[in-house]
Amino acid sequence: KIIPVVLCGGAGTRLWPVSRKNHPKPFLKVGGESLIAQTVRRAAAVVQGDTTADVLLVSNESYQFLLQDECLPVLNAAAAGARLHQILEPAGRNTAPAIALAALWAQALHPKERVVLLVLPADHLISPVSTFVETAHKAVTSALKGNLTCFGIQPTAPETGFGYIQKGASLEGLPGVHAVKRFVEKPKLDVAMEYLASGEYLWNGGMFALEVSSFLSALDSLAPDVRSSAQAVWAQAKSRADKASGGQIVQFDASAFAQLPDISIDYAVMEKAANVAVVPAGFQWSDIGSWAALAEQAQADAAGNTQQLEGRGELISIESQGTHVRVGDRTVATLGVSNLLVIDTPDALLVADKSRHQDVKKVVDALKAKG
Ligand code: GDD
Ligand code: MG
Repeated sequence: KIIPVVLCGGAGTRLWPVSRKNHPKPFLKVGGESLIAQTVRRAAAVVQGDTTADVLLVSNESYQFLLQDECLPVLNAAAAGARLHQILEPAGRNTAPAIALAALWAQALHPKERVVLLVLPADHLISPVSTFVETAHKAVTSALKGNLTCFGIQPTAPETGFGYIQKGASLEGLPGVHAVKRFVEKPKLDVAMEYLASGEYLWNGGMFALEVSSFLSALDSLAPDVRSSAQAVWAQAKSRADKASGGQIVQFDASAFAQLPDISIDYAVMEKAANVAVVPAGFQWSDIGSWAALAEQAQADAAGNTQQLEGRGELISIESQGTHVRVGDRTVATLGVSNLLVIDTPDALLVADKSRHQDVKKVVDALKAKG
């Protein structure tokens, strides 16, 4: 049994002013559909044919209804009979606890079956879906052999915000799956440059196929604190059936939840485990981390300008170069400027040098400091 687990926790502060507390990155529309809806559509494609498919969303409790509204129609249309479940967190404790709770939940729901969790971040762009589905099935087959399986992306730059996977020999009996010699989460720039130059490394795509019992035993030995506190939190979980989604809603006591260690699966498990495998992915992949990533998705004009038209407004671009402009309901004009990011929304406007796209979170910090 494959259960897609969609993680939607990140705030996406580098995408201010479109990504906000009440409208975080997974709700960002790219190409007409939100990233979360696209993720659920992909997940449904993987479990197509399973007439009692389960899809689990793990998010902050404040997104319960927003997520349901966004995901239920997509899931119902894509996979008849599928149930949408939600684990609602009182606060984010990072991906290791979130996935540990998903594993305990899946074990309780299907005590007699071998379940593979297909862990998917809610904020990636992936195409085409058919290649993703093929790759996901290879990863699931690998997970059923007990491998903690990652998706490997061909790196194009010495990005320091990703995990790096040193690819080993191909695994017998598992076409398209390789052993992993080393997994290094977010290396320093000089190290990332070395890895890139060596040609032996892939980026970690942030998606995982994990067979529940092998993942829990990896936690037992490599991150016993995550395992024991997740177990304790799980023991107090309150779960109920939800009419609208046909699935379960799981909630927790906030003070117990706060005891969970704040650590990602990459540091807690992937860097340390011996049974890690990787499936090099053939699909296009983009972690929509900043406005520069969105600019890359758009078709550039002859002067390297890109635009995102998201409302009734239009863009007038005169003698400008290398700009990226998001237009909402107002007309925006650029004249004689270069390498600017201009992101217009009804109540906030960002004007930034394009090279500073990673620093947009400083704006959010400054706003928070003002209260
Ligand atoms: N529910 C929930 N709760 N989701 C969370 C939490 C949490 O506390 N923390 C993070 N997430 C979600 C994020 O929303 C995102 O969808 C996913 O988990 C990954 O978290 P990020 O914070 O975006 O991780 P990252 O981008 O720094 O690094 C990961 O992804 C990279 C690829 O995008 C790592 O796996 C890297 O190794 C990988 O290269
Ligand atoms: Mg990310």
